[in-house]
Order: sequence, then structure tokens, then C-alpha cells
Amino acid sequence: MSDIGGQIADIRRELGDKLLILGHHYQRSSVLGHCDEKGDSLALARLAGLNKTAEKIVFCGVKFMAESADVLSGSNQTVFIPDPMAGCPMAQMADAESMSRAREFLQAGGDHAYGLAGDWLPVVYVNSTAEIKAACGEWGGSTCTSSNSAKVFEWVFGQGKKVFFLPDEHLGWNTGADLGVPDDEIRLYDPRFENGGLDADDLAVARIIVWKGFCLVHQRFVVEHVEHVRHERPEAKIIVHPESPKEVVRICDAHGSTAQIIEYVEAVADGSTIVIGTEVNLVERLAEEHKGRVEILALSPSVCANMAKINENNLLDVLKTFPAESEVHVDVAVAENSRLALERMLAAT
Ligand code: 13P
Ligand code: SF4
Repeated sequence: MSDIGGQIADIRRELGDKLLILGHHYQRSSVLGHCDEKGDSLALARLAGLNKTAEKIVFCGVKFMAESADVLSGSNQTVFIPDPMAGCPMAQMADAESMSRAREFLQAGGDHAYGLAGDWLPVVYVNSTAEIKAACGEWGGSTCTSSNSAKVFEWVFGQGKKVFFLPDEHLGWNTGADLGVPDDEIRLYDPRFENGGLDADDLAVARIIVWKGFCLVHQRFVVEHVEHVRHERPEAKIIVHPESPKEVVRICDAHGSTAQIIEYVEAVADGSTIVIGTEVNLVERLAEEHKGRVEILALSPSVCANMAKINENNLLDVLKTFPAESEVHVDVAVAENSRLALERMLAAT
């Protein structure tokens, strides 16, 4: 173990269960080796809410994940992030003011010719700011992650309502398709345009409206990548994260959250070849872990520069002094409504 690794291990031993280090699957292996738990967004949110002993929770991931941990953890617990600049660009693609304009449009003037004011409920992907989650909670909606979006959409449909999903267009389209909602009953809301570029006819036919937002890491997967694999390695199975464009997802063998991708790889027969379309740290780690049993290749290497901001050096820096600038605090009023949206998700799935 490196000297830095040794120092981290010493501090962890000293603090025992007063310290909880959580790590997302996209973290580099050297960081994950120091984490008490690793997981996808859903698992990590649950863990932060369930842990009662740790006074300090260090979150190795991006800011929105650490914010959710702060919202779900107890008042005696403080959440830290090793690099406070580790944001998620997708989370910045929806702001509370634009969401409020969208809500006005969807509820315009009470009941109207193309639907009822109460027709729509928001579903907010956890890859969003705490303010967006709060607006969702206050409106009666729920958050979701890529592993439970279908269940949360069903929770909305079960109430006889329609889904207003933000901020990832692709997860919205892909979840709709998983539930058998045809493309012509899904509309794209582009916040740059008045009423998102939609009109009364769109609202009349749509069962799902998806916000125009995306993840740079996954949007770069294209149909040609899949076609290339099909041509060169016809025996390979291809699995991608559902933040990938629907045209890609539909010609792959499977899609799923980071945890579901890991489960998929663990379940395949020895000697298989699996091509994975997601952040490259996870792909490379799976390739290493399953070496000699399963051949694992990247659909195309794609790096999340923000996840990569966390390393052993800044993890050790936090653990040495727990500096105030690394603390993650969601404003109390925002946290209250944001918790409503997160807890609805945890209860529904
Ligand atoms: P998961 O919820 O699948 O872990 O994904 C989080 C994420 O940020 C994917 O880009
Ligand atoms: Fe955000 Fe994409 Fe990075 Fe996930 S992979 S944290 S969605 S930028």
C-alpha cells in the first residue's frame, strides 16, 4: 500500500465506525479500495440514510450524490466531499426557475382543453441539484435513479397521472420504452424555448415529457460504435447505461444502472465477451476483476472528468483535518422538500 494509502488506513482504523466512506462505481480503484461501501446512486443514497453511527460521512463521488447523503443523513452527521468542484454537468442543465416556468405551463390556467391542471407529476433524476429535488418534492413528485426509474414512472401512472421527467432526456425516453410507452406519446421539453417548444396538441397526446438534458459521458455513444462491435465481434453481448441515446440502447443486448451492469457481467457464462458502454473506470475495473473468465471491452472509452477529481491525495487531505470547505450542506428549507422527493423514491422502490 502506498504511503498515502497507509495514512488513510491509519485514520480509518482510528475513527472506526465514527467514519463512513462511500464510493460510487465510477471512482478509480485506488479510491474505492478505501471505501466502506461502494454502490450505484440508489445504493449509496440508501446507505447514507441507514447509517446511524458515523459522525462523518466522506462521499467519493460527485456533488449531487453528496447532497443527497446530507439530506438523508441525521443532524448529528456531517457529509464531506474530497473535491467540492466535482459537480455533474447534467445536474446543472435544469434550474429551479426554468422548472417553475415549466410547471406553470403544464398547469396553465387550471383545467383546459388539453388536459387537467393536476395531470402531471414531476420525476426528478437524482443527477440534479438539491433545489430541483426540492421543487419536485413540493409539487408532490419523486426522485429516481437509473435503477428504479421504471418503478417510479409506474408509481406516477398508478395515480392516473403523467410523467414530467428531468433533467436527462435519454433516461426519460429509455424508461418510457421499457414500460411500452410509444415514442409518439413522449415529448421533448426544451427549456430554451417558450413552453419548452410544446403546444396544446403535444400535451394532449403525451404521457411522458422529458427535459432536454444529457450526460456528456454517455451521449457520445453512437449507433456506429454498436455496429462496429457487431461486425468485428459478433459473439459479444453489448450492455450500456440508460443515459445513452435511445437509438443506441435499442440495438444493444441490455441496459442498466452501474449496479445492474455489474450484476449482468457477474451472471454471464465463462468465456463470454461483453462490451460495455459506460464510464471507463468501471469498465476497466470489471475487465480486471473478471480477467481470464470473461473478456470485457469498452464500447468506446469515455471518462467522467468530475468523478476523476477525487483521488487518494484529496481523500487523505479531508481525512486529516475535515476542513469546513469540504463540508456539504444543503440549506434547511431546500433539504426539507428535497427529502420528501427522495423519501418517496425510497418508499416506492
Ligand atoms: P448509477 O445510478 O447507475 O450509478 O449512475 C450514476 C451516474 O451518474 C451515471 O452517469
Ligand atoms: Fe454526471 Fe455523466 Fe459524470 Fe454521471 S457520468 S456524474 S451523469 S457527468
